[in-house]
Amino acid sequence: MHWTKPEPMWREDTKLPTFEPLKQSTSTPITIVGGGITGITTAYMLAKEGKKVTLLEADELLNGTTGHTTAKVTAQHGLIYHELIQHFGEEGAALYYQAQEDAIALMEKHINDHSIKCDWTREDAYIFATTEKGAKKIEREQKAYERLDIAGEHFEELPFDTDTTGVLRMRNQAHFHPLHYLSHLVDEIVSMGGMIYEHTKAVGVNEGENIEIETGNGCTVTSDYLISCSHFPFNDKKGMYFSRMYAERSYVIAIEPENKWENGMYLSIDDPKRSIRSATFEDKNVLLIGGESHRTGEGADMSSHYKTLEEYAARTFGIKNKLFQWSTQDLTTLDKVPYIGPITTNNERVFLATGFRKWGMTNSTVAGQLLTDYIMNRESEYHSVFTPSRFKSDPSLKRFLSNNLNVAAHLVEGKVELVDKEPKDLKKGEGAVIQFDGKRAGAFKDDEGELHLLDTTCTHLGCEVEWNSGEHTWDCPCHGSRFSYDGAVMEGPAKRPLEKLSLEDTKETYIIPDDPEAFEESTDHH
Ligand code: FES
Repeated sequence: MHWTKPEPMWREDTKLPTFEPLKQSTSTPITIVGGGITGITTAYMLAKEGKKVTLLEADELLNGTTGHTTAKVTAQHGLIYHELIQHFGEEGAALYYQAQEDAIALMEKHINDHSIKCDWTREDAYIFATTEKGAKKIEREQKAYERLDIAGEHFEELPFDTDTTGVLRMRNQAHFHPLHYLSHLVDEIVSMGGMIYEHTKAVGVNEGENIEIETGNGCTVTSDYLISCSHFPFNDKKGMYFSRMYAERSYVIAIEPENKWENGMYLSIDDPKRSIRSATFEDKNVLLIGGESHRTGEGADMSSHYKTLEEYAARTFGIKNKLFQWSTQDLTTLDKVPYIGPITTNNERVFLATGFRKWGMTNSTVAGQLLTDYIMNRESEYHSVFTPSRFKSDPSLKRFLSNNLNVAAHLVEGKVELVDKEPKDLKKGEGAVIQFDGKRAGAFKDDEGELHLLDTTCTHLGCEVEWNSGEHTWDCPCHGSRFSYDGAVMEGPAKRPLEKLSLEDTKETYIIPDDPEAFEESTDHH
């Protein structure tokens, strides 16, 4: 199979350790599911407390959202503090901020303790507005900074060529190379006796006297505690997390700029949103420019998002060299604060961490700390802010409903949408929803002309998946499940692959000849 697949810069210059799949049933005091920054940080912190941990990763370590981040390590999570004060009061908002600052300090400590070379750089973070409405929001946010005693200032201008109506700085934040940091923590986990298994998918849980985690290849891991760090919890029986979060995709390009770059990390708050930070790749100074986010499964032509970012970069910084492009998926909770804590109220053995919005670098370390405190039976003033059972009816409830109405609309719309493409209309490397046998089907024609046909009904709750031309995946707009071109699950909450369709029962895929008449002949006998 050949096509240009977007790859993140971080994976390009990192040699990650590899691990065998779990091949026989085992028991361990603590099982952590998910080998991204949250699972690894939590495993590392528990191992440091002397706990024996086992980490299960369905694919390869650090190949999900963590590997695709822009890796800003900051408490400046866009416009958030004014809103948090409205929703949680000054005390709750201050705790959220303090938890993020503690996380930055803790990451710095890990780096210093182990002399990790990961380009850790302290820099100021800025949000900026480009409209009058945005300027008012910046002013409101600045007032929230004052109330919460956050070190920051208001400016009128940015050090690069963009018209602004207001800028708000948060001092002394950071950025780094996430995989250089995390690959070191992985080594530490192993050296402290932790077990790691890749290509080991957790598919079910039985909560009895012990917790039994079933894996896709039929093994069982028996544990005292289970921590789910896999975005949607794989064991979501009662929490209904899929209806309490929504998924968004966003895009990043890495360029060498022509213009001289001043320091700082930047984020615009008006649409279209843009995120900018510098980084180093092979001794080159590069800029990471992100944006173009949209609800999963709802973007137009996905590859156009990269083009739009490139045009912005060319206008604003000049492009000497374009190096990488990649995309990522993030989950947002109903009140924008992550869910970290017991998976259901009062469950003292099964925990989760998810819903970091786009701010996984600090929130994952917050999660590592809070989950470690839960398991070590230590009180934490932060638990009440992040606990998944904090759910309040205002104004979350409104968002909760509109979130779900959006899902309902997709369920109906997708089923009645008219489709006029047929398999013969597809070019090589193209995917689309087509008509097949008088029914709606998902089709992808690979570079060899092989056609992969799928039932587009999402195996989670039955919404219709849409083709993502940028990533060559099938994305579900309802709760963000993603499937590869051949239907395999890449991201949950769906657990089962999309159903394959075939022209002949004996074949799963087949060649569509370039001559459409020959195609019709080949299907005559059906
Ligand atoms: Fe829930 Fe597709 S992810 S229906």
